Amino acid sequence: MRFNAKGHTKRTALPWLGATLAAVALLAACGGGGSGEGLDANGRPLSEGEDPSGPLLPNFRSIQSHVFTPRCTGCHAGATAPRGLRLDATNSYALLVGVSAGQVPALKRVAPGDPDNSYLIQKLEGHAGVGARMPLGGPYLDAASVNTIRQWIKNGAVQ
Ligand code: HEC
Repeated sequence: MRFNAKGHTKRTALPWLGATLAAVALLAACGGGGSGEGLDANGRPLSEGEDPSGPLLPNFRSIQSHVFTPRCTGCHAGATAPRGLRLDATNSYALLVGVSAGQVPALKRVAPGDPDNSYLIQKLEGHAGVGARMPLGGPYLDAASVNTIRQWIKNGAVQ
């Protein structure tokens, strides 16, 4: 005679269904607070300069948000940025203005007051001494946009 010492007692865990089906309709009222967050005193986004939906203007913030950030940082960002030229909002100004071009060290990337001798302009217009026109592979900036950047440089390339 076999004796099963273990005595399998099947545990039928009865789920207490429906005991507490209280409607937990927590429609957290996500208020509209926080407007103005991330904006400067003039209502501009702090991160990238001004509203990119507006026109390109001959000032650094506008050029950053309309050109450098959307058109250049796909390549010119981080440790692998070509020629060490990072064009994200945090780094672009310091790496452009008054800095010698890697490809043609006799020229500044941006020479304040002198757009013709600014390597940035030569690269954008496609007549630089070395390498390809920027943005590499296109589409390239139209003449009006390049002229606006020229104007910023002519005015002293202030930040
Ligand atoms: C698809 C990748 C790519 C994009 C997008 C791109 N670049 Fe470049 N850039 C390069 C490469 C690669 C080089 C180096 C080779 C060459 O010049 O052809 C370079 C070189 C440069 C140089 C020369 C830097 C030096 O000091 O010698 C400048 C200036 C420049 N780019 C500006 C720009 C600007 C401004 C934009 C956006 C309007 C842009 N690039 C967009 C890939 C890119």
